[in-house]
Amino acid sequence: MLVSLLLFLPAVLAENGRQAWLRYAPLTGSKTGPPALPQSIIALNATQSSPVFTAGQELQNGISGIFNKHLTVSSSHSSASHAWSLVQRHSSRTHSERLLELEVDGFWLNVKGSAVQIVGQSDRGALYGAFEYLSMLARGNFSDVQLVSNPAAPVRWVNQWDNMDGSITRGFGGASIFFDNGVIVSDLTRAAEYARLLSSIRINAVVVNDVNANFTTIQPGNLQGIGRIADVFRPYGVQVALALDFASPMEFGNLTTYDPLDPGVIQFWDDITENIYDIIPDFAGYLVKADSEGTPGPLMYNRTLAQGANVFAKAIEPFGGIVMYRAFVYNLLDESVWTADRAKAAVDFFQPLDGQFLDNVIIQIKYGPIDFQVREPAHPLFANLLNTNVALELQVAQEYLGQQCHLVYLPPLWDTVLNFDLRVNNETSLVKDIITGKRFNRTLGGSAAVVNVGANDTWLGSHLAMSNLYAYGRLAWDWSLQPDDILKDWIQLTFSQDKTVVDTITQMSMASWPAYENYSGNLGEQTLNDILYTHFGPNPQTLDNTPWGQWTRADHTTIGMDRTVSNGTGYSGQYPPEVFEVYESLEKTPDDLVLWFHHVNYTHLLHSGKTVIQHFYDAHYEGAKTAWSFVPMWESLKGRPGIDEERFEDVLFRQNFQAGHSIVWRDAIVNFYHNISGIRDDAGRVGNHPWRIEAESMELDGYELYTVSPFETASNFTAIVTSTNSTTGTASTRISFPSGKYDIGINYFDMYGGNSTYTVSLNNKTVGQWEGNIVDIGKLGHTPSIYLDGHSATRMTFKGVQVKKGDVLKVVGNPSGVEPAPLDYVVLLPQGVID
Ligand code: GCU
Repeated sequence: MLVSLLLFLPAVLAENGRQAWLRYAPLTGSKTGPPALPQSIIALNATQSSPVFTAGQELQNGISGIFNKHLTVSSSHSSASHAWSLVQRHSSRTHSERLLELEVDGFWLNVKGSAVQIVGQSDRGALYGAFEYLSMLARGNFSDVQLVSNPAAPVRWVNQWDNMDGSITRGFGGASIFFDNGVIVSDLTRAAEYARLLSSIRINAVVVNDVNANFTTIQPGNLQGIGRIADVFRPYGVQVALALDFASPMEFGNLTTYDPLDPGVIQFWDDITENIYDIIPDFAGYLVKADSEGTPGPLMYNRTLAQGANVFAKAIEPFGGIVMYRAFVYNLLDESVWTADRAKAAVDFFQPLDGQFLDNVIIQIKYGPIDFQVREPAHPLFANLLNTNVALELQVAQEYLGQQCHLVYLPPLWDTVLNFDLRVNNETSLVKDIITGKRFNRTLGGSAAVVNVGANDTWLGSHLAMSNLYAYGRLAWDWSLQPDDILKDWIQLTFSQDKTVVDTITQMSMASWPAYENYSGNLGEQTLNDILYTHFGPNPQTLDNTPWGQWTRADHTTIGMDRTVSNGTGYSGQYPPEVFEVYESLEKTPDDLVLWFHHVNYTHLLHSGKTVIQHFYDAHYEGAKTAWSFVPMWESLKGRPGIDEERFEDVLFRQNFQAGHSIVWRDAIVNFYHNISGIRDDAGRVGNHPWRIEAESMELDGYELYTVSPFETASNFTAIVTSTNSTTGTASTRISFPSGKYDIGINYFDMYGGNSTYTVSLNNKTVGQWEGNIVDIGKLGHTPSIYLDGHSATRMTFKGVQVKKGDVLKVVGNPSGVEPAPLDYVVLLPQGVID
């Protein structure tokens, strides 16, 4: 029997996001009454570190939270009838034929009124079944089911990019929950909570350290700590894996080489592997990023990538571990070479090695060949490794997609790749069937997602961003699920079953990726953010004139990468003939990838009937308009069931930020291409802002003009900054617009390194005040900028302000630290105007 202390736990926790979709809140708005609940929970084979034990506790907590009913948990068979029971396959006395259908990690859920049986093929299968059952109850689904559920693939991993110093590469939700100051943290409470979340979506392993691995992670002292992490993950059936630094044999093994064929190096990896398994007997395996972006690898010694991968594979094979070897291998390139193309690199490196990787190696391939862009064609490597295990790499961390400060529900983007038919050997070859191993009869396969949760209560830094993590897990188990169906489950679990809540958040989320694509990078041109600095705000010129190979090749008349065989880089030839034929042809290539495959004039006519440049203009205005619509949509949910004050305010703040930043994006990109092409916008919007008052045109006292770079990230290219870092600046003007009610927007730059304060007044009567602190105090977790640019450009809005013609509008800015209270413009928006 368990102590009853645990029973009320979920119900009393604040709605700060920590419980994510596992809140087990009392049902609201449910039309049916509670189901007939049985008297007790029986968790068989339940030692404390076993997922079956965890399942018993989880059911107990869940039932308590949802129905306020307290069930006992026991591990005895005696009262098995009419009870909740959790059993393992081999100890089960249930002889249902359905059990024979169970595959590794699968479960059987049998609900008949108050009699419920949950049978796992493995311990963690039983836990998955318990979570499935609780998910049904938490969504008010009390129907009888007889359900056998098996995973699409055995590898359902997440990758954390946590560094030993406690930072997270591309992490936007706070510091690492695993590491600090070079060691593993002593308090692993959050790690255990993360394990619970992962387990509920059937993720079975987590790589805890960054792919750009640091050898210190596997040094003896730290390995003990990794062992402690494994201990807190184990009861949830989540295994631990590690990213390796290929040069470790030299860095701490006292060897003079890391050549993978050197006997000393082989011995080194054998020893390390043995040490790891001594401490963590259920260790999942290794993740290797080699010969990529400066990381060491086998190519240094003229060894192949297969030779490199196989050293780890051999070392780990006796223990049952696997090696996830990343396909993200490429060299820096010279843009003046027309045929140079980073997108080709993976196939060039890996295809000749097909069949040479050992059976416990999986090549981990990003969804597209560049780098988690807003749209990419399916990675051609999926069509080129017929005799090698492969897995798909997704990124839940929105590195190039708004860094969790923009709502972007990712499954519709993932869907474009998962359901893409690569037509290998002229047969149906969907990416989702290749990664599971089904298409080419491979036994190993699956997926990994870069997740990067941090210590923030919301995990990812944003409540709404958690739908992406939830959806990833659901998909990794079953790639045939539809993005909006998953979303609806998530909303019900995270907020409530209220129809308005479900419909509204579904509508916002489903519109979010198309909107982001519209204002961040169209027609397959990639995300036009700053690829050299923060990967956050707009800076299209950073894509070109660098050796990184994410080029747009934009000049005054043309744009796009020519990736054809006939006249370009030859990339289209990496696809099987039927796909090649489409992409090779300008006429056949779909509009949404035209600039990925073809170099065309801005005046090129798309299938839509628009020119490329007009499409840019229209899409950017459309995208920003959609982002703006999220604010009233979210506001309409105030006070509705499940929309508590704390989460409501947090999301509202973010949606307001996104609305403002979508204007920054829109204006930057349209101005940039307007400037470079000299082609006017048919609708006359670009450069035309009748409701704006440029800060530089106001009467300034203590403020001076500042030319912003990149130019397109400030309205009229110019901002104002205080003359010194310690003196107040004032900008004032007499309103010449007609009297009426306006939303007053003020565009300023929220830089890292200072919290300037601002006051806006009308005729000396304060309209509002704010502090430019959103990145400094972590209100938004995006990578900060120390400059006035597209990352720091932010809007503050005061709604419904009564303004009279002739009023004196004044903004007073007090600088702070290195932040000189920078201002770009003020806009007075009449009802319905977005600018
Ligand atoms: C991106 C990201 C890097 C990361 C790399 C990778 O380029 O910006 O921080 O290391 O992907 O996937 O290895």
